[in-house]
Amino acid sequence: MPLPMMRKSAAIRALTLACYPTSDIVTSPVRITVRSERASYQVLVGPGLLGRLVSLIKDVAVTPETTLVVTCPPVWRLHGRRVRSLVGGGRRPAIIPDGERAKTLRTVEYLYDELAGRGLDRSGTVVAFGGGVVGDVAGFAAATYLRGIRVVQVPTTLLAQVDSAVGGKTGVNLAAGKNLVGGFHAPALVICDTELLATLPRREFRSGLYEVIKYGVIASRPLLREVERDLPTILQCRPGALAGLVATCCRLKARVVSLDERESGLRRVLNFGHTVGHALEALTRYRRFRHGEAVALGMLAAAHVSMARGMLTSADGARLEALIRRLGGLPRVDDLGVSAALRLIARDKKVAGGRLHFVLARGLGATAIVPDVSRQELTAAMRSIGMK
Ligand code: GLY
Repeated sequence: MPLPMMRKSAAIRALTLACYPTSDIVTSPVRITVRSERASYQVLVGPGLLGRLVSLIKDVAVTPETTLVVTCPPVWRLHGRRVRSLVGGGRRPAIIPDGERAKTLRTVEYLYDELAGRGLDRSGTVVAFGGGVVGDVAGFAAATYLRGIRVVQVPTTLLAQVDSAVGGKTGVNLAAGKNLVGGFHAPALVICDTELLATLPRREFRSGLYEVIKYGVIASRPLLREVERDLPTILQCRPGALAGLVATCCRLKARVVSLDERESGLRRVLNFGHTVGHALEALTRYRRFRHGEAVALGMLAAAHVSMARGMLTSADGARLEALIRRLGGLPRVDDLGVSAALRLIARDKKVAGGRLHFVLARGLGATAIVPDVSRQELTAAMRSIGMK
């Protein structure tokens, strides 16, 4: 049912129902369906799925001969051997630089040249094999090349598995702000092999965990409790145990996206912490923060506004902050100016008709989207996280 037809309470119930225990060891893949405007697609979560990549993509009518694998150097170095059959026959993957700074139109242009140079036609498929940047850029190239060809997302980071690979958002950054150019392009399939998470650098893994915490704040106190209780185990990155955590987040995201793919309402809740987070990333030219780290600081700022408005108790605010701090140190913000951040926030995609749609915590496990957060409230919130 389209979101405007749903009563708000029904939408929120749909969201909270999506939370499942995360501590089970998952050995066989979890299959989650996402309803999309064009067609439904599956998200598969489990350890060892990469070994079955070719047969899994054949199930969605993709043949290795008509694919372009897009990846980045560290992923290719570590895992390229395991997907060689997809790029066999003397072909090679398209390798884009690692990191947020590669999320540009220039990189997309390089991918267009690769696609055209290899003669991919409308039956071709892009396989995005990497983290959030690879997924967003490769997805955008697939969305626009020949007015749209298929993309299969094979996310290799925790952040991409729990968030960016699901839901069809694709795009690139501009100097003026994050993700300002893009399109919705649902993948044909998403394959989350949790074994890939074992080789992630610690900082990258923690960055993804902040997004997991975000799901807890917006929809599930039980998920937050599980992360609090199981953090030492989670940090051991055991693929079978992580599959439960990833599946929980993907199920939640699938529910949200199936109800509101184009972010006309409910999907905005996924942006909790992202308004200030995106400003921090743009202010530092995408060099200082991992995306999840910026979101963690953004969540603290959003929690500050929520507490000031009496929507979040100081005990719950302190609990969220303690969990975020338990994950380790976050990059400094004391040299970043609030006024410059406010200017970036004014250009944020979440501004519509001059009003910023800001996501606040309504206790831990629920949210409210408000259109009237003032400059003063934002200033106080950003000062509370240490900005100048
Ligand atoms: N990462 C937020 C969304 O997919 O809507």
